Parts: sequence; C-alpha cells; structure tokens
Amino acid sequence: MKQFKDKVISITGVGSGIGRSLAVKLNAAGARLALNDYNAKSLQETISMLPNQDIPHLSKVFDVADREAFYQFSEDVLQRFGQVDGCINNAGVALGAVSVNRLSYEDFDWIFGINFWGMVYGSKAFLPTIKKQEEGFIANVSSIFGITGIAYQAAYCTTKFAIRGFNESLRMEMHVEAPHIKIHSIHPGGIKTNIARDSKVAVGMEEQMAQQDDQQLAEIEKAFITSPEKAADIIISGIKSKKERIMVGPDAKKADRLVRMFPEKYTGILLKNSDLAKLRVEEDT
Ligand SMILES: NC(=O)c1ccc[n+]([C@@H]2O[C@H](COP(=O)([O-])OP(=O)(O)OC[C@H]3O[C@@H](n4cnc5c(N)ncnc54)[C@H](O)[C@@H]3O)[C@@H](O)[C@H]2O)c1
Repeated sequence: MKQFKDKVISITGVGSGIGRSLAVKLNAAGARLALNDYNAKSLQETISMLPNQDIPHLSKVFDVADREAFYQFSEDVLQRFGQVDGCINNAGVALGAVSVNRLSYEDFDWIFGINFWGMVYGSKAFLPTIKKQEEGFIANVSSIFGITGIAYQAAYCTTKFAIRGFNESLRMEMHVEAPHIKIHSIHPGGIKTNIARDSKVAVGMEEQMAQQDDQQLAEIEKAFITSPEKAADIIISGIKSKKERIMVGPDAKKADRLVRMFPEKYTGILLKNSDLAKLRVEEDT
C-alpha cells in the first residue's frame, strides 16, 4: 500500500507499545482508524495522543479472543466507513517463563485465544471486505519467536509460529486469487514495551514468579533494544514497500539469518550465547 491517506485500517491492541505507535503514525499519515484494546483506559489514552484529531476514527473495547465481538467490530467498521483497506492484528500477550512440563492446558488455551485465534478472527472477519478494494493488506504480528524456538516459552512460540504458517498459506492463496492483497508477516525482535511486565503468571507458578524481582525483569528487558516508535516506522515502511516478511530490529534480522544458515544447529548456538538457564524459575519435579 503506497500511501495511507483516507485508507481505513483496523488495529488491535493499541493501548500500549507497538500498537499505540502504529495508531499515532498511521493517523499522522492520514488514515481513518478502527482501534481496539481490551483496556478501556489505555485505549482512550492512545486516542488522545492521535495528532490529527479531526480525522474520523472508531474505537471499541473488546477481547480479541471473543469471536462474536470481533465480527461485530468488523461490521461496525464497515457500517461507519463503507470500506476497509487494511487490518493489523497486533494484540498479543506473553506468559512468564515456564517449562513445557509445568505448562498447563489452561495457559495454552488462554494464550492461543488471544495470540492465535484473535489473529484468525481479525483476518477472516476483514478479508472479504479488504478484497473488494483496489489494493489492501493484512499484517499479522508474529515475533522473532515465530522464527526461532526459545526455552521456557513454548506456548508463546507455538502461537507465533502458527501465525507465520497462517500468513504464508494465506499469502499463497492471495497470489492465486487476489494478487492486489498483500499479507505481511511481522517479526519484531525485542521491543521496549510493557509485554514482559504485563505477562501472565502461568497456573501453578505463582510462588516461583513472586520471587522474580525487578532485577530479573530488568535482565529480560535488556533484550528489548528497539523503541516502539522505531518498530512502527519499520512496519509501516515494510507495508508501503509491499515486503512480505518484515523483520523488526537488528536482533530479528540476525535471528532470521541464523536459522536459515543453521536450521538445526541454531538451538545449540543460542544456548551457548545466552544464559537460558537463568530463565528457569522452577524446582525439579
Ligand atoms: N515487545 C516485544 O519485544 C515483542 C517482540 C515480538 C513480538 N511482539 C508482539 O507485538 C505485539 C504487540 O505487543 P507489545 O510489545 O506492543 O505489547 P504491549 O503489552 O505493550 O501491548 C499490547 C496491547 O495489547 C492489548 N491486549 C492484550 N490482550 C488483548 C486482548 N485479548 N484483546 C485486546 N487487546 C489486548 C494490551 O492491553 C496492550 O495494550 C504482540 O503481538 C506481541 O506478541 C512483541
């Protein structure tokens, strides 16, 4: 999509981080935005930060894991603006470090509901409308961990690999039936946002995670090297230049190269170069 002026774009999870920066920058570029978050207060804060307050927008508080609410939102957007040109499925959550052994099915269901199903609902609800436009896009936010696996984050990684699989399959379908629609797979590296601070404590891990102090969190956040504003710039310029895989930040580019060069050995290389054992917060069971 070469320019965003007057385009109608839906973005989920705009109350913080990458989503907030995308909303501010796309509004500055003249887009009419349909904005979502499940946190009413932070959604309102983002709306107050939009530089062009005179450009119409629509906002709705709902949980992206709620299929009915997402479809209702897509209908509201169409009714309000009469068209949809793009959608960015950005809302996502993380779980604190936990081994596969201790990971509960409840936690799997929770994270899949938001990260995976939220992305599927957004894509499917908006696709028929977007296809009617002369040009359009769907941008689904995966992660560096949709490119590489990582210890103690199996559930998060699985949702993000699934998003990449969905994107790559849908992209091929669009090449066959609607080449004017671009499917962007977004892979941020470490971005300075609230994602780690707001991560959910896995069921049964309350005691261990309570011992994780601010210093440990700061350790995790050391890997967050790119600002959300810069991340939004990279994503927007990738959508403009019709890039299908958008690596956000030098760490994401590096990880992508590593996995392609050493598809099997990369896990050993990552283990050697990082102190993953530090992430292990639980006792032997
Ligand atoms: N920050 C990083 O290092 C990083 C790296 C790779 C990928 N990502 C991905 O980027 C996306 C944005 O994350 P961020 O880092 O900006 O996080 P963030 O926590 O700063 O912002 C996420 C926003 O999504 C909202 N949200 C969460 N669950 C929701 C739900 N069920 N329904 C509606 N809104 C919901 C939150 O309220 C919040 O405003 C996520 O998909 C995340 O997985 C982030």
